[in-house]
Amino acid sequence: MEIEKTKNQFESEVENAKDLSQLDNVRVKYLGKKGLVTDLMSHIKELAIEEKKIFGQKINALKNMIENKIEQTKQKLEKENIEKKLKSEKKIDITLPVSIESGSLHPRTILQKEIEDIFVGMGFTVEDGYEVETEYNNFDAVNVPKNHPARDMQDTFWLSNNQVLKTQTSAAQNRILRKYNGPLKAIFPGRCFRNEAVDHSHENTFFQIEGLLVDEEVSVGNLIFFMKKMLSELFKKDINIRLRPGFFPFVEPGFEMDAQCTFCEGKGCQVCKHSGWLELCPCGMIHPQVLKLAGIDSEKYCGFAFGLGFDRLVMLQYGLDDIRMLNSGNLRFLKQFKTKF
Ligand code: DAH
Repeated sequence: MEIEKTKNQFESEVENAKDLSQLDNVRVKYLGKKGLVTDLMSHIKELAIEEKKIFGQKINALKNMIENKIEQTKQKLEKENIEKKLKSEKKIDITLPVSIESGSLHPRTILQKEIEDIFVGMGFTVEDGYEVETEYNNFDAVNVPKNHPARDMQDTFWLSNNQVLKTQTSAAQNRILRKYNGPLKAIFPGRCFRNEAVDHSHENTFFQIEGLLVDEEVSVGNLIFFMKKMLSELFKKDINIRLRPGFFPFVEPGFEMDAQCTFCEGKGCQVCKHSGWLELCPCGMIHPQVLKLAGIDSEKYCGFAFGLGFDRLVMLQYGLDDIRMLNSGNLRFLKQFKTKF
């Protein structure tokens, strides 16, 4: 009888199914739309009424049996799969200690965060600058027009579209002045690039932190106050500073700010070349032309600016004698700087 034959055939095939995909093939063969059970069912209409009933019951029983058997076999195969997996993974001893080395921040990043925290504490915002700048922002907007000799000191990498890799964080001054269009206190750290012959104290890629403060009555006294406070917090002791005249086209008057040597307290040592002072950062009162070029009323507003080369500060803080270490990516060097950050 057809039903009996199908049943036996199914039982032997389901026994032979080795995995879930083979089992699924068996399921489709018997229960699918064009499967054997469906095919048997289609014969029902050829039978006499009496036979129809008995045949129908038998087919239903067969269908239920097949469904149950397939479900049971599926569960059995899934269980076997898990057991097999567990057995093969036994080779891994999860109780063994694992060594995952945590990384560390770059010393420059550590110092940048410290300086940012100090300035934020004094009410400054931290702004972003671009690395690729327009010639206008990098030079003209900070009062360095074409053919000005100051451009020679900052030879840089020109792109084919006439933009430059910025030579100084001052390149963001114009954009930030325009953003606030009036009183502001902001610092903007960033990577700068110059066409330099690289040696132990010169790099073609270096970092600066620029600062700007604009308001109605700003004096050199304010500049001294903020810089002294920043340094004293950074070095966790009172730091004396002094100003020497310095020329930068975007400030008037312009200064070089020195800090009393933090190593010898001004007595003179190797680090300060026995002068008692460390050159720290150029600064000055913002040139009215820079304000004007940013659309700010230079009769009403004035301010100070500074450009801290902070690779030198990192070198001082960590006693490094070669600036090239900072960009070297040397892991033996970098691994020494594990900190609280
Ligand atoms: N941008 C100057 C440089 O890289 C540094 C500088 C000098 C920035 C004086 C200033 C400043 O904001 O007031 O050489």
